[in-house]
Amino acid sequence: MLSSLKGTFSFLAKSLNPKNVRAFSRYNQHRTTPDNNDSVPFEFTKENYEKIQTILSRYPSNYKRSAVIPLLHLAQKQNNNFLSLSAMNKVAKILEISEMEVYEVATFYTMFNREKVGKYHLQICGTTPCMLCGSREVTRAIEEYVGCKLGETSPDGLFTLEEVECLGACANAPMLQINGEWVYEDLTPENVIPLLEKLKNGEEPVKGPQNGRNFAEGPLGRTTLINFNPERTFDRDFAAAKQEWEAAKEAAKQAAQAKK
Ligand code: FES
Repeated sequence: MLSSLKGTFSFLAKSLNPKNVRAFSRYNQHRTTPDNNDSVPFEFTKENYEKIQTILSRYPSNYKRSAVIPLLHLAQKQNNNFLSLSAMNKVAKILEISEMEVYEVATFYTMFNREKVGKYHLQICGTTPCMLCGSREVTRAIEEYVGCKLGETSPDGLFTLEEVECLGACANAPMLQINGEWVYEDLTPENVIPLLEKLKNGEEPVKGPQNGRNFAEGPLGRTTLINFNPERTFDRDFAAAKQEWEAAKEAAKQAAQAKK
């Protein structure tokens, strides 16, 4: 009994040690700063107002609030990957909802950056498949190269490094997402450095797997969809399938009427 209690205490002590605590995003809480307060102006560009109209047209006018996430994405992209307080307030105004309702959404999702980030926002996946395939080693290599730790921005302001949960590319683990859009997979401590060097030099690294593999193909190469037709015609005749379905529907309707 005593030894099991000891074990529990030592586990808790280990887990609560700041050195062992996983670096979760620090960008989802608001702290008023000179460049992030409600007196800093934010206005959507003319082009983005056009995009907003297109987004709003997808929802009934009494459910404008449903557009909150796409509008927050638009605001963040326009604002150098940073969702400021004024940007959120602007979204609330356009959607005619309370500011608090927008804050609730923005602070729930890690993809919204509530503090300024570097030019390149590096989000390294730390979930089990990526971790087992070496994300910790890749993270250490990145930290060393950019000169900052997880949750920090590099001294040159170019990179912000953050660890996030599964980004859906587990078959190509470990992987990294940059600026919420570009994905780089099959990373190693060696191949991640040239990738960062390219970004630093203003070049665009090739997206996707960094080890030369084609998409998520296994060691045997392509084993499924091998009869894929490059002319992009489908194996299944969807028009015939639709006709069949309509006929079955009509037959069921007539059978139901006959029963009455
Ligand atoms: S675990 Fe890393 S992408 Fe899924």
